[in-house]
Amino acid sequence: MTATPLVTRSREELAAARVELADGDVAVVMTMGALHEGHARLIRTARTRARYVLVTIFLNPLQFGPKEDLSKYPRTFDDDVDICTREGVDLVFAPTPDVIYPDGDPGVRISAGPLGDVLEGQSRPGHFDGMLTVVAKLMHLTRGDFFYYGQKDAQQLLLIRRMVRDIDFPATVVSVPTVREEDGLAMSSRNTYLSGSDREAALVLSRALQAGADRAEEGPSAIRRAAREVLITEPLALSDYLVLVHPSSLEEVPEWYRGEALLAVAARVGTTRLIDNFPVLVGPGGGGLEVFSDVPHAALHG
Ligand SMILES: Nc1ncnc2c1ncn2[C@@H]1O[C@H](COP(=O)(O)OP(=O)(O)OP(=O)(O)O)[C@@H](O)[C@H]1O
Ligand SMILES: [Mg+2]
Repeated sequence: MTATPLVTRSREELAAARVELADGDVAVVMTMGALHEGHARLIRTARTRARYVLVTIFLNPLQFGPKEDLSKYPRTFDDDVDICTREGVDLVFAPTPDVIYPDGDPGVRISAGPLGDVLEGQSRPGHFDGMLTVVAKLMHLTRGDFFYYGQKDAQQLLLIRRMVRDIDFPATVVSVPTVREEDGLAMSSRNTYLSGSDREAALVLSRALQAGADRAEEGPSAIRRAAREVLITEPLALSDYLVLVHPSSLEEVPEWYRGEALLAVAARVGTTRLIDNFPVLVGPGGGGLEVFSDVPHAALHG
């Protein structure tokens, strides 16, 4: 049996609750709400490492473009708290935008740099600056020791690791493999937008990635070709990008490349933009990987 976590709304409430948790033993899972099994996995993984788990629920306006889905984003706060209760979360921080941005949109922001301009950044200008700015703020406000992020958002995870390294945050970043529905669809809060035929069409993303990973031994062009051949079979999925890139530079890997690479896809299905990726090992003995083997945990502290 687990108790309902303490839900805090203001900076003062959070700070008062946070001092009750032992320093060095606090893991944080940041979310935008509309929690699903992917978030639950992050929470459970966090629990294996730290005595206390703090979940933030904040729909960050700064990372949404003017034409994006901020106003229709699913809001399921009571269900979110139920999931936090079930998963034994100790503390929830669920602020409104005026708590996080008391002076309105911040003039000073974290810049994602060049890695923030490619892939997702190309379709969503300013998205990663807005994301990193709130992540930095939430790292400060929660004073967490370990921060858990999903591999589903590979570019986000990479940029958070880079921020922590590049500007010396006292934080340890940990990644968690992508949680999928039984049929392969990567879990996402935005999947609730998918109607029957769109839900079916959305499967083409993971099927394309799988087809690519199945050809991993043959090299980059075989991987890309196999993935693309599957992706184009679905007329309801309008592909934005399908790439095989180096996991830390996000540059397309050359044909001679052998080693770990990120096979990533983004596509619009109906009005919903979906992303997915597989870490793959390219070359002899290659194939899909759960996670990258050589990603540093950026353990600068704790
Ligand atoms: N299927 C998943 N498997 C593992 N982690 C996930 C999954 N989906 C989301 N996460 C992680 O949960 C954290 C919070 O993500 P977020 O609240 O944006 O949910 P989301 O499902 O990605 O929503 P959306 O797709 O609308 O952005 C992030 O670290 C994200 O990578
Ligand atoms: Mg997300």
